[in-house]
Amino acid sequence: MKDVLILGIESSCDETAASVVKNGREVLSNVISSQIDLHTLYGGVVPEIASRKHIERINQVIRQALSEADVTLEDLDAIGVTYGPGLVGALLVGVAEAKAIAWAKKLPLVGVHHIEGHISANYIENKDLEPPFLCEIISGGHTHLVIVKDYGEFEILGRTRDDAAGEAFDKVARAIGLGYPGGPKVDKLAKEGNPDAVFFPRAHVDEAPYDFSFSGLKSAVLNYLNKAKMTGEEVNRADVAASFQQSVIDVLVDNAMRAAKDYDMHVLALAGGVASNSALRKAFEEACAKKRIKLYRPSPVYCTDNAAMIGSAAYYEFINGRISGWDLNAVPNLKLGER
Ligand code: KG4
Ligand code: ZN
Repeated sequence: MKDVLILGIESSCDETAASVVKNGREVLSNVISSQIDLHTLYGGVVPEIASRKHIERINQVIRQALSEADVTLEDLDAIGVTYGPGLVGALLVGVAEAKAIAWAKKLPLVGVHHIEGHISANYIENKDLEPPFLCEIISGGHTHLVIVKDYGEFEILGRTRDDAAGEAFDKVARAIGLGYPGGPKVDKLAKEGNPDAVFFPRAHVDEAPYDFSFSGLKSAVLNYLNKAKMTGEEVNRADVAASFQQSVIDVLVDNAMRAAKDYDMHVLALAGGVASNSALRKAFEEACAKKRIKLYRPSPVYCTDNAAMIGSAAYYEFINGRISGWDLNAVPNLKLGER
C-alpha cells in the first residue's frame, strides 16, 4: 500500500506547531514554536497575543516541518488541523492556514479534535497499541476518562466538573509564587518536598465515580497558605507542592483503576500535558503493575501540545473517509466525539 503523508497543524493555545507524519505513526518532523516566554510576563495565556504570534510564526514553522521531513507540499496526501476546542482566535490561524494549503494543492482537509490528538500521541511510539483501550486525558483545559472504542470513537466515562488538573497545577503554582506555566515547576519543586506533610482533600463526585473535581483542592491549598500567612507560620513550599501534587495523582490513579476494573479493561493510556509529570508517571506505573494493566504514556514531548499527535489523529480520520468540507471553522468548545 502507498504511504500516506500528512501535514499536521496545531495552534489551539500557545504553541504553534507543524509536523509531517507517515502512515499515522511515523513522525518525520515535529516542529514546536512555544510562546511560553511571552505569556509568562502576564502569568497565563493572553488570547490576543497568542493569535498574533501564531500568525507571525505559522508559515515558518510549516516550512521547517516540511524541510526537516525532506518533503514538499507536492508529496503530501492530506492536511490535518486542530479545529477545536481551544482559543477561537488561535484556532482560526491554523484552520485558515490549513484551508489555504489544501485548496491551493487540491488536498483533502481533515479537521481534528484536539483531545483526539492528545489520545493519538500514544500511537506514535507504540506501534502495537490499538483500540479498544482506556485513556485518561490530563491537560491544561481537560480532564477526561474515556474508552477509546475504535479510532476516533469514544465513550466518555468521566470528566472534570470544574477545573482541569493542569489548571489546578497552574493556579497552585501561582499561589506559591512559581509563575506560569505551573505544572513543570510544581513537578520540579515537589521532588524536594514531602507528599505527606500536609493533607489536602481527594475529591470524589457522588454517583459519578469517574468524574473529577479539582477546585476544592485548589481552595484548600489557598486556605492553607492564607492561614499560614495570618498566623505568621512559615510555609515549606516544596512540601505544599508535593502534598498538592500527591492529592491530584491519587484521584487520577483511583478513578482510572476503578474504571479499568468496572469495565474490565487491561490497557490504559495517558495523554495531555500533565501526563508528563514525573511523580504521576511513577504512580501509574506502580498501580498498573499491581493490577496487571498494560500502561502506555507518550514521551513528555508528545504529552504537551504538538502537531505530530494531530497528524496521527488526522491519518485515522482520513483513512476512515472523514474529510472536512471547505466550511470547516474553529469550534472553541467542541465536544469529544462531536464532528
Ligand atoms: O496538553 P497541554 O500541553 O495543553 C492543553 O491542551 O491544555 O497541557 C498543558 C498543561 C498545563 O496546565 C501545564 O501546567 C501542565 O499541562 N503540565 C504539567 C507538567 N507539564 C505540563 N503538569 C504537571 N507536571 C508537569 N510536568
Ligand atoms: Zn493540549
